[in-house]
Amino acid sequence: MKLNGAAQLDFKKQDVERAYDRWAPVYDLVFGKVFGKGRRAAILATNRIGGRVLEVGVGTGISLPQYASNIGVFGIDISEAMLRKAQRRVDRLHLTNVEGLAVMDAEHLEFPDGSFDVVMAQYVVTAVPNPEACLDEFARVLKPGGELILLSRVSADKGLRYKIEKGLMPVVRPLGFRTEFAWSRYAQWVEANRAHGMVFIERRAVPPLGHFSLIRFRKVGVIG
Ligand SMILES: C[S@@+](CC[C@H](N)C(=O)[O-])C[C@H]1O[C@@H](n2cnc3c(N)ncnc32)[C@H](O)[C@@H]1O
Repeated sequence: MKLNGAAQLDFKKQDVERAYDRWAPVYDLVFGKVFGKGRRAAILATNRIGGRVLEVGVGTGISLPQYASNIGVFGIDISEAMLRKAQRRVDRLHLTNVEGLAVMDAEHLEFPDGSFDVVMAQYVVTAVPNPEACLDEFARVLKPGGELILLSRVSADKGLRYKIEKGLMPVVRPLGFRTEFAWSRYAQWVEANRAHGMVFIERRAVPPLGHFSLIRFRKVGVIG
C-alpha cells in the first residue's frame, strides 16, 4: 500500500541518509537516554518471542546489547555512518548473536518472505519517505505467527496538537524525522493488510511525553 501525495514527495531518501550520517557522531549522546525506556520495553517484548529478529533502522546499534543471547539479530540501516558505529559496538562487546549488519533500504528488504520471527523498528517508521511501503515489507518478511514491534511517534489526528505537529514539519524534516504521523495511518494500514494476516495486538504509551508508543502487530497467517 503506497501513500500518494505531498506527504511523501517532500521526504527524500538521500536527505534522510545524509541527515543520519551527520547525526552518527553524536546520536547516542542526544537520543540515547531519552528513548531508553521505550527501547527496553520493545526489547523485552522481543526477547519473550525469541527466534530470529530483523532490526530495521538499527542505527548505532544502541539496542543490540539488550537482546537475549539466544536470539539471532540482523540489523539494517540506510546510513553507513550509523552502521559503522553499530559494527564497532558489536566488535567491542563481542555480540556473537548479531548475525550481520547491512546497508539496506527498509522499503526494499533483501530477504525472502517469512524470514523472521520478529521485525523490530525503533523510531524508524516516521523517518522514511513511504511508511506504508516499509510496513508492507516488514509484514512480508515476517513468518506466520511472528510479530512486528514498533516504537513510533504518534501525533494527534486533529486539534491544536495536530496543527503544531504539522507546523513543525518543515523544521524537523531536514533533521530526518516527522512530527506529523497520526494513529489513523497505522489503523488504515492494518485494516488494508488483514487479508495478509496482519492483526493489531497492542499500543502502549512510552516516554518521553507520552507522544511515543510501543505498537505490536501479529502475522496470524492468511485470512481467507
Ligand atoms: C531515529 S533513528 C533510530 C535509530 C535506532 N533505532 C534507535 O532506537 O535509536 C532512525 C534510523 O532509521 C534509519 N533509516 C531511515 N530511513 C531508513 C530507510 N529507508 N531504511 C533503513 N533505515 C532507515 C536512519 O538511518 C536511522 O539510523
